[in-house]
Amino acid sequence: MKLPFICYALGALTLACAATLASAQVSTPEVSVHTGKTGYQVYQQVCAACHTDGVASAPKHGDKKAWAPLIEEGQHILTAHAWVGVRAMPAQGGMPDLGLEEFAKAVAWMASSAGGDWKDPDAALMHRIRHEAAERLEKDIKAKKAMKKMLERD
Ligand code: HEC
Repeated sequence: MKLPFICYALGALTLACAATLASAQVSTPEVSVHTGKTGYQVYQQVCAACHTDGVASAPKHGDKKAWAPLIEEGQHILTAHAWVGVRAMPAQGGMPDLGLEEFAKAVAWMASSAGGDWKDPDAALMHRIRHEAAERLEKDIKAKKAMKKMLERD
């Protein structure tokens, strides 16, 4: 008996899902992250690539000494600045579709693994993180605009 088209389509989809799951086991920043992941899952999929071994001096997972001054900055400040990107830390951990909420959960998980008492942010904390991130981005935009102006002068 011939399977209707929908079954073939579903079959292909299942394969695609299996492939995605398989590649999710490897900690590379290429894996797409969608909503609903825990901080630990996001860490494994995106952040571990650099933060396990301290690539480019990234603060290592579980390194209390490295994390103490970061934890001191406060959850909304650290989370917002890291999401926007700071020094060698790539914006969104290098994953353009990684939303602020999932990123924030990963930061909370990392901080908690290094002596902090950070929880997944609630709505009020998310609001503060969003506000801080927006201000940071605004500064970046101004800096880039000033840079663009230099082109007009040359
Ligand atoms: C490609 C490598 C890379 C990936 C992937 C990456 N990071 Fe980082 N991260 C860094 C580096 C390098 C630094 C140190 C930045 C510096 O101080 O120059 C850093 C610093 C940070 C900091 C401290 C920021 C500060 O203000 O000093 C936080 C928080 C952080 N990362 C969170 C994350 C989270 C959460 C993820 C995953 C969603 C992630 N990182 C993925 C490389 C990475």
